[in-house]
Amino acid sequence: MKKIFKILIIVFGGLLMHSCYYDDLVERPLPEIPDDQEILYATDIQVGIWDKKCTGCHNASNSLDLREGVSYNNLVPEYVIANNADTSPLFLQLLTGHGNTDGNEKAFIKGWINQGAKNN
Ligand code: HEC
Repeated sequence: MKKIFKILIIVFGGLLMHSCYYDDLVERPLPEIPDDQEILYATDIQVGIWDKKCTGCHNASNSLDLREGVSYNNLVPEYVIANNADTSPLFLQLLTGHGNTDGNEKAFIKGWINQGAKNN
């Protein structure tokens, strides 16, 4: 009886510690955007993210101008590799914490790139 108790403690204790370890060290996966949801650059990305979090710095006085009308051509293709967010300098830069985007915003940017980085 005692032995079973010890085994249970080891098993559940191990699971508990493992989950804490996971929470602390591994970045949570980005939320999934449904495959059939088309992400729109003009509204979802420009208005939804750049205008809120980036254009305070990235405007006429910064070499990477992210204001409406010019942002797309300043980003694509230099900082964005269409269909490949994981190797796009823009996305890698945001993963370092630059621009302070939240998980949902990162998921939208990743989805937009992986849907072909269209100027839609
Ligand atoms: C607090 C000011 C600030 C904010 C906010 C900010 N950036 Fe930046 N960002 C900079 C500076 C400064 C640089 C480096 C200098 C440069 O490229 O002109 C930079 C560099 C970059 C680069 C790399 C440019 C290069 O030349 O290598 C990218 C891409 C970028 N930012 C995207 C963004 C995006 C997207 C956002 C919003 C989510 C954002 N930044 C928010 C200040 C900011």
